[in-house]
Amino acid sequence: MTEPVNTFKRNRHCGEIGLSDVGQEVAIAGWVQKRRDHGGLIFIDLRDRSGISQIVFSPEVSSESHQLAHDLRSEYVIQVKGAVRNRPKGMANEKIPTGGIEIYVNQLAILNTSLTPPFMIEDDIDISENLRLRYRYLDLRRKPMRDALILRHQICRATREYLNGQGFLEIETPILTKSTPEGARDYLVPSRVNPGHFYALPQSPQLFKQILMVAGLERYYQIVRCFRDEDLRADRQPEFTQIDMELSFVDEEDIMSIAEGMISRIFQEARGIALETPFQRLTYSQALDRFGLDKPDTRFDLELKDISDLALESGFKVFTDAVASGGMVRGIRLPGCAAYSRKEIDDLTDDVKIFGAKGLAWFKVAEDGLQSSITKFFEPALLQKISDRLGGTSGDLLVFVADRSGVVFESLGNFRNKMAKRLDLIDKSRYNFLWVTDFPLLEWNENEKRFAAMHHPFTSPCEADLSLLQSHPSKVRARAYDMVLNGSEIGGGSIRIHRKELQEQMFSALGMDREEAGNRFGFLLEALEYGAPPHGGIAFGLDRIAMILSGAPSIRDVIAFPKTQKATCLMTGAPSMVDQKQLQELMIKTEILE
Ligand code: AMO
Ligand code: AMP
Repeated sequence: MTEPVNTFKRNRHCGEIGLSDVGQEVAIAGWVQKRRDHGGLIFIDLRDRSGISQIVFSPEVSSESHQLAHDLRSEYVIQVKGAVRNRPKGMANEKIPTGGIEIYVNQLAILNTSLTPPFMIEDDIDISENLRLRYRYLDLRRKPMRDALILRHQICRATREYLNGQGFLEIETPILTKSTPEGARDYLVPSRVNPGHFYALPQSPQLFKQILMVAGLERYYQIVRCFRDEDLRADRQPEFTQIDMELSFVDEEDIMSIAEGMISRIFQEARGIALETPFQRLTYSQALDRFGLDKPDTRFDLELKDISDLALESGFKVFTDAVASGGMVRGIRLPGCAAYSRKEIDDLTDDVKIFGAKGLAWFKVAEDGLQSSITKFFEPALLQKISDRLGGTSGDLLVFVADRSGVVFESLGNFRNKMAKRLDLIDKSRYNFLWVTDFPLLEWNENEKRFAAMHHPFTSPCEADLSLLQSHPSKVRARAYDMVLNGSEIGGGSIRIHRKELQEQMFSALGMDREEAGNRFGFLLEALEYGAPPHGGIAFGLDRIAMILSGAPSIRDVIAFPKTQKATCLMTGAPSMVDQKQLQELMIKTEILE
């Protein structure tokens, strides 16, 4: 191939040429999307970031370019100059903005060739995600991927504009740092100059942003990368981006109102959607009571109903035992599902068993009452009460889980989401925002036999519950709040502890002795002694917001270079083995333990 001859500059973008340009000469550049030879004419869809233009090579306009155009293949990079013409009658493509015009090329420069790509650069492709991740630079040429990155950019821009306008300062915090607990494992980085010592990559900038408040900066934000070594799911990545903020001299109401303002601005600018504020609020216990989960999807009903009192009146041991031992029985009404077969009901049972439920009791609602293999354990009047409690009407299926509360909530909460999809009850055009408040401060960790912070150890307890911190730790509520969108936790934050004594009490409630607290968080405790103002904040998952706004099925679809479920990068091959020499410099010897 000869060196490209490129004697002109591009002056327009492919996707932005329209009928008003007819008669003009334009110069555009981009990638060959598709080539079609039609007798004497060669048609090419030329693509750049802005979209596609159809260009035409005719021997009558430029025989030299026409000759050269025979060599063009998919994904060659070219630059062309030519006159914009109306497409002939009946040939317009209504689907794309440039569908009314075509450009007759009089000069062509081939800027680079391309191997045949391993998949087509099209909107809908049916290939493995691994192949897309391996050739991410090709995958990102596809419009849906490009649009997702543009959306992310718009979200960041709206965020910055809004927070700048509210008097926030954008301040960077360290990436090589000390462990901040957010409930996941740390990624560690060895220090060469301090052999045997490790930095932790931040799980969040939590402690630094609090220290910035002690430092008197008053309003901080950062669009910041966070690192968490945890089990990956469809909405989790080992490195992800937070919109993180912290404010001094505020309460919950101030922070929630600023957060609502910011989210509204993002939705307005990125999607033209006007949100209604203030958002609905539910306490943690209301959320569990009605929906089973602390991040409920409120776009559909299928609410949980408690029948523990009625269950006790039955002779069904599964029910009575569960309630007698401090548990509960709750149920959901599945509209129109009475015709489910035994096999289908067994499948439903498997759906709750994943979450620890031992079974799924069921009743079909018929004209003449409830039908099930277990009706013999219930008086007819009791069956009627159960049906009334759930609002059963003929044709419904009523299903119940009896267990301790944690299992009932988790299994039915997740089951509820699954059934809503299966029964097609979700209105996808809706954005249901929700604040969940009054979380418990602590939760019992059965494995470690100690309490753990439900948010993080720096969250302030509710003033009214302070006296319970020693006597009834599980009863203490936190000054914490999560923002939930369509069943996904998109943000969470709290008012912080700003007094040293209370922070020490909190560490002690978490089973940390003074020495451990000092080793891990001594710098924070010390800073709190130098006039720490009352403060609080919140952090949003940018990737999750982008995922919901773009309707993408996976968080990987809104991240330029994401990791696989196994936390690998298929393009670069990270993580990888390193040179022996590098390890020697770090004074590290590796041995993989079983
Ligand atoms: P939290 O741990 O709740 O709070 O994180 C805040 C938000 O970050 C998003 N998020 C994730 N997104 C993608 N992949 C992950 N692995 C992941 N983990 C979390 C979620 C979540 O709501 N420092 C506190 C905030 C504060 O108290 O101000 C914190 O990090 O959308
Ligand atoms: P069994 O008595 O084990 O034959 O169960 C009778 C019915 O009760 C079956 O439909 C089981 O799925 C259901 N079942 C068993 N354990 C539970 C439970 N803990 N909660 C709700 N239903 C259950």
